[in-house]
Amino acid sequence: MRTVEPVPSSTAHEAQAPGVTTTPWIRDLAAGIREVLRRDLSPQLTADQVAEVLRPSLGRPGLLTDAQREGDPRAYRQHLLHGEPDGSFSVVALVWLPGQQTPIHDHVCWCVAGVHEGQETEHRYRLTGAGETAELVRDAVLVNPPGALSAIAPPGDIHRVRNTGATKAISLHIYGADISRLGSSVRRTYRAPHEES
Ligand SMILES: [Fe+2]
Repeated sequence: MRTVEPVPSSTAHEAQAPGVTTTPWIRDLAAGIREVLRRDLSPQLTADQVAEVLRPSLGRPGLLTDAQREGDPRAYRQHLLHGEPDGSFSVVALVWLPGQQTPIHDHVCWCVAGVHEGQETEHRYRLTGAGETAELVRDAVLVNPPGALSAIAPPGDIHRVRNTGATKAISLHIYGADISRLGSSVRRTYRAPHEES
């Protein structure tokens, strides 16, 4: 049985038009990210330093508009907050209603995620073997409260995120790719290990 599955052609993600920066905090955040990118670091170091740029925004009241905080009862929802004109990075808010989750997936680029409100649980996996016999093994379960940050870069970035709280959860994500063009940062999705299916 295949462990790696094709990326679905349609998801709950919504790719809006290329982002025009609309609020001062996003303008400041984008300027900070540009400064990191000018250092031309490895993908992991870039993600680590971008995480520190994002950190002061997490949990700040009034950061997002009502529209940017809207969820979708069908699946977690993506709001594009900023698309860098040269395509080098994107900022999105992901809104999760209780119980909503991603498939197990990895990314096409480095990725920073910070919990803005609510609680998210992240399962991290590694792939053992290769080809048709490859199997996923769960390595860690992280419960992330507001303010928690993760910075990851492929390969080895296979995970799943779920809102395990009783209220809406919102996280802010920065991807080293043009999400307005790609629609999402997901490279591949994976079938859950036997013990989770
Ligand atoms: Fe992810």
